[in-house]
Amino acid sequence: MIRIPGDKSISHRALLFSAIARGRSRIRGLLPGADCRATAEALRTLGVSIPTLPGDGSEIVVEGVGIEGLLRRPEGVIDCGNSGTTARLLLGLLSGAGVRVVLTGDASLRSRPMGRVTEPLERAGASFEWLEEPGRLPVRVSGTVVEAIDHASPVASAQVKSALLLAGLAAGVPVTVTEPGRSRDHTERMLRRCGARVTEGWSGDLWQVDLGVERAGEALEPLDLEVPGDPSSAIFPMTLAILGGVRGGRTGASPLELKGIGVNPTRIGALHVLERMGARVERSDEKPTAADSHEPVADLLIHPGALEGTTIEGSVIPSLIDELPILAVAGARAQGRTVIRNAEELRVKESDRIEALVRNFTALGVEVEDFPDGLSIEGSDRALSGQVRGYHDHRIAMAFAVLGALPENRIRIDDPSLVEVSYPDFWDALDRLTGRESVGRPPVVTLDGPAGSGKSSTARAVAEALGARHLDSGALFRAVTLGLLEKGYPETEWGALTLSDIEGLKVGVEAEEGRFRPTIGGRSVGAAIRSARVTERVPRTARIPAVREWLLQLQRRVGRNGGVVVDGRDTGTVVFPDAEVKIFLTATLQERARRRLLQEGEEPSPEGIEAESKRLAQRDHQDENRKIAPLRRPDDAIVIDTTGLDFDDQVRTIVETVRSAGDRG
Ligand code: DC
Repeated sequence: MIRIPGDKSISHRALLFSAIARGRSRIRGLLPGADCRATAEALRTLGVSIPTLPGDGSEIVVEGVGIEGLLRRPEGVIDCGNSGTTARLLLGLLSGAGVRVVLTGDASLRSRPMGRVTEPLERAGASFEWLEEPGRLPVRVSGTVVEAIDHASPVASAQVKSALLLAGLAAGVPVTVTEPGRSRDHTERMLRRCGARVTEGWSGDLWQVDLGVERAGEALEPLDLEVPGDPSSAIFPMTLAILGGVRGGRTGASPLELKGIGVNPTRIGALHVLERMGARVERSDEKPTAADSHEPVADLLIHPGALEGTTIEGSVIPSLIDELPILAVAGARAQGRTVIRNAEELRVKESDRIEALVRNFTALGVEVEDFPDGLSIEGSDRALSGQVRGYHDHRIAMAFAVLGALPENRIRIDDPSLVEVSYPDFWDALDRLTGRESVGRPPVVTLDGPAGSGKSSTARAVAEALGARHLDSGALFRAVTLGLLEKGYPETEWGALTLSDIEGLKVGVEAEEGRFRPTIGGRSVGAAIRSARVTERVPRTARIPAVREWLLQLQRRVGRNGGVVVDGRDTGTVVFPDAEVKIFLTATLQERARRRLLQEGEEPSPEGIEAESKRLAQRDHQDENRKIAPLRRPDDAIVIDTTGLDFDDQVRTIVETVRSAGDRG
């Protein structure tokens, strides 16, 4: 049995609504993913105290401040990360409430269109200053909604509809929205749950939603709710089970049971498509509208079985837009052709999903054809192997992970960390369901060795060859040192620092192509960590127990999804004792001294090498004999002496070792 994480859409809304309600809300089962953390952080910036989102779905309590309690001029910028929902819902809420603030996001979110939300808001009196490109984040919300909102949305979009409802609620104006099909209705359900007057129904062939509001800041009642399991996450293990990838033992494919999954009719279009393709899914313990959430939930029993190709088009598209990548994957394993049309919306999601699907399928040798508004996939049962990309899109990554987890396939995804957005436990669940280890993702590789053994440059090249990311643990110790110096802690007292002192330095990492870069307070640290001032003091930092403990946790968090090549002193022994591949690099003192000098931009003269060798020998002695985390070769490490080795050969040897270790899984 696996637990499906809380519904992402409902989690965002539960956070927002509990923040602007008046009184104490209790929420259980929230998704702790990156997108919801962005919403929580945004609300904190707006002056609401939101606890850390628990990883296990346990209850959090939120003291709502009411709409009028939001800070009118919050300090700082609201960073929505990768989350379109956070950005669009906040554009509505904040322009309705008259809050002046700048919203931004990561590169992918900054490229997504916001005009669909801001144009109807502008017609009702709001104004937005685009700080870079019109219609794209970053944007300053600078004027308030004052008139009734009446909008005929050309697309069925829950984000547009929800943004307008929140704007009307905050501004105290009535709202009417029509859309050409029914988009997800979680906002309407939750508004009603909080006592607002929302009505909806067909008006001709348009779906119409009305919100009646009499005055600004009308009070919402607090929530007490359990977030249902996300059907858009459940669809991944479900499809794995249908395609025969869930293995209960030697008996082959097993059925899968999932409990407490949301079955809101606006969300289960994909389930109907799978059923039409021949899947057998039994529902039980169905609660039509679970009293606490006003959302229907059920337990599901999914049976393995053969699928047939189908056509997915027309009015069902909005109800399964997030599931189209995994439905395309199901199509690749069905008999005959699967065709997806009328899904131009796919081009403006977290990635251009049509292009991402076509490229990945092509890389695996699956026959596909792309259309402006969709694609067609030729099903087959051929074994598939190759490397695919996540294109910064969690659902693309998970869809191909499911395809790769089928026993006959060998597929690697470049960026396993993408799952954090909506399904933080995804890889663990996949390992558990398939009975294999590290399915579909580059493993954790540790590279330890003394200073100057060439770890960092090797680790970087290995990471690049594997499509993984390099984590330089020495750089983290350096970032902490810089943080300590910036904070001005007297050096004589460093030894007594506590975990919470170290946490207060706000050292973290940001993911980039090919590596994780250390940050302080969210800002990249750059070259400052290589200064003489830091280099001199970092050995002292590395001996502070609280620093080691804190960096241990940080490194494990970064590495929990695999896809990391980490180099340091204790990464194979202490930090990742279960790493799939451990390498220990050595080289002669002279050679290491020569490399150090080159690294620091100095010409390695014989005298220079001599002096640097002495320093290194001293450092080795320190590193090997210090009480805390001495440098030690992991018993199960592969030892490579790099003295006379050609760099490319060395990298190739390691990469091949990693690849063959992965194929055992
Ligand atoms: O590799 P480097 O010079 O950037 O490392 C900086 C310091 O951090 C060095 O004093 C050793 C220490 N360190 C450590 O103790 N454990 C690690 N895993 C990595 C580095």
